[in-house]
Amino acid sequence: MSERTSADLREEVRSRYAEAARAVLQPQADSSAGCCGPAAASCCGPEPIEVDPAGNFGSHLYGEEETDGLPEEALLASLGCGNPLAVADLREGERVLDLGSGGGIDVLLSARRVGPSGFAYGVDMTDDMLALARANATKAGAGNVEFLKGEIESLPLPEASVDVVISNCVINLSTDKPAVLAEMFRVLVPGGRVGSSYEAAADNLTSGVGASVARAVGITATLRTSALRCEVRRMTVQSGV
Ligand SMILES: C[S@@+](CC[C@H](N)C(=O)[O-])C[C@H]1O[C@@H](n2cnc3c(N)ncnc32)[C@H](O)[C@@H]1O
Repeated sequence: MSERTSADLREEVRSRYAEAARAVLQPQADSSAGCCGPAAASCCGPEPIEVDPAGNFGSHLYGEEETDGLPEEALLASLGCGNPLAVADLREGERVLDLGSGGGIDVLLSARRVGPSGFAYGVDMTDDMLALARANATKAGAGNVEFLKGEIESLPLPEASVDVVISNCVINLSTDKPAVLAEMFRVLVPGGRVGSSYEAAADNLTSGVGASVARAVGITATLRTSALRCEVRRMTVQSGV
C-alpha cells in the first residue's frame, strides 16, 4: 500500500470515528447543525457511522450485569465487534492496554476487573474519542485509567509495561498490521496475554459481498483495511505470536 493511500485511509477512519464521538458528545449540536452543517456528513459526504441511540451497535455484546453502572455515553459509543474481555481473563492488579479505546467501554470494564491495584490504559488517535473517553472515566469515577493519544502502530508506552493487551475490532482498521503486532509484543511483558476481537474478511470474499459487509459494519474503511483470514494467520505467525 502506498504512503499516500495508507495516510488517506487512516484519515478516513479518524474522521468517521470523530464524527461518531461527536454524535454522542453533542447530539443536539449535531442535529441543529442541519443537513450540510459542519457536523453533518450524512447527506453531504460519505455515509456516517450509525450510532444507534438505543446503544445497539456494540453494547449488546456485553452482559447487562457487566455494563451496569457505566456512563450511558460509554455504551452509546460502543463500536466494537466483540467482547475482548470475554477471552482476556483479567486478574486483580494487572496492567491492561486497549488498542483503539474509542469511548472507553473496554478500558472502564478492564479497570473494574483489575481493581485499584491494577491499571487500564486506552490508546486512540482520534481527539474527539479521547475527549469522550476521558469524560466517561470521570463520570464513572474510575481512578485507575488513562487515555493516551497515539497510533497503535507506534504505541506511546515503554517496552514490557503491560500484562495484557486487548482490542475490539481495531487491528483490522490498521493499514500496517505487522507494525501493530510488533508494537503489541514490545509493550507486553514476557508471558503477557492478548484478548482481541478481530474482523477478518473471509478468504473467498468477493467485492460485492465485501461491500455489503462494509455497509453492515458502518464503515467502508473496514473493508479496505481488513486482511483476509489467511493473511491474518500468516502475519500472526511471522510476528512470533
Ligand atoms: C471500533 S472503535 C472501538 C472502540 C472501543 N474499543 C469500543 O469497543 O467501542 C475503533 C477506535 O479505534 C480508533 N483507531 C482506529 N485506528 C486506529 C489507529 N491506527 N491508531 C489508534 N487508534 C485507532 C478509532 O479512533 C476508534 O476510536
